[in-house]
Amino acid sequence: MRSKSHTALAAAVALGAALSAGSPAANAEAAGLALAQQQNCMSCHSVTRSFMGPALHDVAAKYAGREDAATYLQHKILDGSTGVWGPVPMPANTQLTPDQAATLASWVLTLK
Ligand code: HEC
Repeated sequence: MRSKSHTALAAAVALGAALSAGSPAANAEAAGLALAQQQNCMSCHSVTRSFMGPALHDVAAKYAGREDAATYLQHKILDGSTGVWGPVPMPANTQLTPDQAATLASWVLTLK
């Protein structure tokens, strides 16, 4: 048991080291996607395709010129959204901390 969890930890550390060898932008991208998958965002969103919710790269493109885009999206992600992209609303994502929502909002904005 002990050695097994040790191996997993070593693997995680190695992965972290491999990631941090990349550019900061690449790290943020990997962390954003991992969080989005873990928080269920990807059951309604894809980066490139719209299905339940809009494609996240369309969201990034829509708000690319907006100065308060990160704050705006942070609140939309936390509180949910209605009527911006179509008839289907996004429920509030109450499981998120404000920090997680901010991380997700900044990640979404990198996807254009
Ligand atoms: C149950 C399905 C569902 C889940 C789960 C979901 N979304 Fe959404 N999301 C939607 C729909 C539908 C819309 C479009 C709402 C609208 O038209 O206002 C949307 C819109 C958005 C927008 C654009 C908001 C705007 O004002 O333009 C962002 C950003 C977003 N979602 C991110 C996320 C993130 C991050 C998560 C995970 C924490 C998430 N979504 C989870 C369905 C979902």
